[in-house]
Amino acid sequence: MPVLTTQVKTDKSVYRKDGETQQRDSNTTAKVQLQSVTKTYTNGCHPLLNANLEIKKGEFLFITGPSGSGKSTLLKLLYGQELPTQGEVIVDGYNVAGLRGDRLSLLRRRIGIVFQDYKLITQRTVAENVTFVLQAQGYTRKEIQRRLQPTLKLVGLLNKADCFPDQLSGGEQQRVSIARAIVGTPPLLLADEPTGNLDPDNSWQVIQILQKLNSFGATVIVTTHDEQLVRRCNHRVVQVRNGQLS
Ligand SMILES: Nc1ncnc2c1ncn2[C@@H]1O[C@H](COP(=O)(O)OP(=O)(O)OP(=O)(O)O)[C@@H](O)[C@H]1O
Ligand SMILES: [Mg+2]
Repeated sequence: MPVLTTQVKTDKSVYRKDGETQQRDSNTTAKVQLQSVTKTYTNGCHPLLNANLEIKKGEFLFITGPSGSGKSTLLKLLYGQELPTQGEVIVDGYNVAGLRGDRLSLLRRRIGIVFQDYKLITQRTVAENVTFVLQAQGYTRKEIQRRLQPTLKLVGLLNKADCFPDQLSGGEQQRVSIARAIVGTPPLLLADEPTGNLDPDNSWQVIQILQKLNSFGATVIVTTHDEQLVRRCNHRVVQVRNGQLS
């Protein structure tokens, strides 16, 4: 039996709120653009070479490619953890490299990120890890509670809310990182190998959760090695290979 469930009734009003926000900046249909982007790390490694990509609002996109090809680098460029060496990365109409301080924080508030290495806070419980960002963003306690329960239920972790990360399996930790990324119902979700530690049933459940978010209007970008999973879905696939996106 899969651990995860999508049976829970997701609160669509949460998504509608974001949908309204999206409408305000719907003067462009591109959510993400990479224009002639080259990324060279200080050690000379260059995972992206003059790469171009356009992702439309509301799209669900898989990014595949061999280990070390540059999938995580591509996502890091989108949320500004890495800057392009050349070219422009544009998200929501903003050149990410040009954003600093508060303006970069504001953009990141609109992006949910599932990190490949989870990045959970070890001294905080599952519930605290999931709600930490909402608290930092000034959500009321009532709104946080309204979002927490359905999100934990969605990822099958209601009974682990008070556990600490080191009391969880790898797959459970991965699902906490997914819950944290989706609890704020972001208009853009970046998921770096979100099924990397899950069995096939749970991987499929996670993809269904991401698809559900997508069906409410979020743009979703998922990196994966799982070719079977990609084939099972009918979404656009971009491959990173030799610095190019094809
Ligand atoms: N901070 C860094 N400094 C130097 N080189 C880096 C850095 N981060 C990544 N790299 C190199 O850039 C290349 C792309 O790394 P990246 O993590 O984007 O690959 P990936 O496609 O996500 O791989 P995986 O499937 O294993 O997660 C690799 O050769 C890696 O060694
Ligand atoms: Mg990676």
